[in-house]
Amino acid sequence: MKPAPFDYYAPRTLVEAFENVAQLGYSAKVLAGGQSLIPAMNFRLAQPAALVDLNNVAELFYVRPATNGGVTIGAMTRNSVVEHDPLITQRAPLVAEVMPHIAWAQIRNRGTFGGNIAHADPAGHLPAIAVALNGRYHVRSKKADRWLNSDEFFVGAFTTALEPDELLVEVALPPMAPRSGWSYRQAARQAGAEAMVGAAALVSLDERGRCNQARIAYVSVGETPVPAAQAAKTLLGQTPTTAAIQDAAEAAATADVDPGEDIHATADYRRHLVRTLTRQALTEAFERAQRGYSILDIRYSVSGGGDSRANAQYPISNTQSLKAFPISVIVNGVRYERAVEPRLLLSDFIRHELGLTGTHVGCEHGVCGTCTVLFDGQAIRSCLTFAVQAHGHDIRTVEGLGTIDKLHPLQEAFRDKHALQCGFCTPGFLMTLAPFLEQNPNPTEQEIREAISGNLCRCTGYQHIVEAVKLAAERMQK
Ligand SMILES: Cc1cc2nc3c(=O)[nH]c(=O)nc-3n(C[C@H](O)[C@H](O)[C@H](O)COP(=O)(O)OP(=O)(O)OC[C@H]3O[C@@H](n4cnc5c(N)ncnc54)[C@H](O)[C@@H]3O)c2cc1C
Ligand code: FES
Ligand code: FES
Repeated sequence: MKPAPFDYYAPRTLVEAFENVAQLGYSAKVLAGGQSLIPAMNFRLAQPAALVDLNNVAELFYVRPATNGGVTIGAMTRNSVVEHDPLITQRAPLVAEVMPHIAWAQIRNRGTFGGNIAHADPAGHLPAIAVALNGRYHVRSKKADRWLNSDEFFVGAFTTALEPDELLVEVALPPMAPRSGWSYRQAARQAGAEAMVGAAALVSLDERGRCNQARIAYVSVGETPVPAAQAAKTLLGQTPTTAAIQDAAEAAATADVDPGEDIHATADYRRHLVRTLTRQALTEAFERAQRGYSILDIRYSVSGGGDSRANAQYPISNTQSLKAFPISVIVNGVRYERAVEPRLLLSDFIRHELGLTGTHVGCEHGVCGTCTVLFDGQAIRSCLTFAVQAHGHDIRTVEGLGTIDKLHPLQEAFRDKHALQCGFCTPGFLMTLAPFLEQNPNPTEQEIREAISGNLCRCTGYQHIVEAVKLAAERMQK
């Protein structure tokens, strides 16, 4: 077992969750999507004595219209749900635009909106987006109920104003002003990789076409996503000409940011990226504001969607922790009943408890994709989910994709196009691609490449795999 032992609590209501965190205090960590916390636990960088799993708290999963014309997002809403929600597209299109940049569909299918914000990772996308959109954060505990602004909520790298007994319950994004435009631009080494720099911009124009609002915030530039105040100041009251935008980008790069250096980029390179990406983002945002934006501007992501919250018919435990939890889970159509220690990963459960060794394990921190399985029909990383969380859910592994007599069209195409290069990564590719082709039966080559960008081929290359996906798509349409 990779993570250190911990007590596990799975409250079913917010009141129970408040009770859990109040009792456990600093010894507990809240478990949302687990896409940042579980990798840290797998490496034993984090060893919380207890986890309070919010995945059964149905009250925290929603996207709602706010009466002021904005939108409110429940903390546990999966990023893939936010990505595809029509209300988000209409009322907070910057959020929809940034979502496809957050890792890969497998991570977004589990990761949550509130978890990304509460994690306060300087390289996280959503803190910067929430700052650009002037978001507010609803924080609650057994005793307290408060709303914070970004400058109050984000305290430092991986640090927020949340007290140990408090939960982030929702994030409110205000309405966009009339004649608004928005844009997100980033530089990263590959699709889904951490942004070396990301720039988010929201601008609006008055009736004479002059800038009356500019909010700009960055990913991976500082400890917290500070808005670019000097850049905004240079734009206010100005007609957004090329020169005015250039001046704002210069102010951003020289006065607003003080980027650090790491293995991904030097400080100078980051400053250069701030200048370039700010110019690009502001140019696009003002163009959209001038012509009146269309939701068709949004680059829709190629996969994801849907929700996989707990099945209410299978409550597991609300307020007590057990050494081993009885779980009942359907894998490839067969029901399995077992008792599992909470720290057992779903990948290890599938392999060692069920003997289904087609699911492979590579990195165990969400990067390689070999452990991909379907969780209620959606591709997820089984190394970043605990087996106890699969209670009441439907899992599909590569063994359930086809049979020896009747292979899945993807399996046939992989064989026919010589895409089975090493075999180790293949199950992860197949389980990523099966739901992708269901959602997108006629993908472009670019979409196929993006869909598999979260599955690492370390041996030969992607060409045969891409050819196989094209062939499978063609055959599946007949
Ligand atoms: C390979 C990989 C690549 C990634 N790339 C990106 C990327 O490019 N951009 C990006 O933005 N993210 C990226 N992520 C992170 C991912 O988006 C996570 O989902 C996110 O950062 C954390 O959200 P979560 O719901 O998984 O939270 P968890 O991992 O469950 O929790 C994260 C932290 O927040 C706390 N927390 C969670 N919810 C609450 C709450 N409601 N109240 C109080 N505290 C809470 C937890 O206790 C924990 O400390 C990546 C992750 C992986 C594994
Ligand atoms: S992503 Fe799970 S083992 Fe690499
Ligand atoms: S095909 Fe498996 S690593 Fe390249």
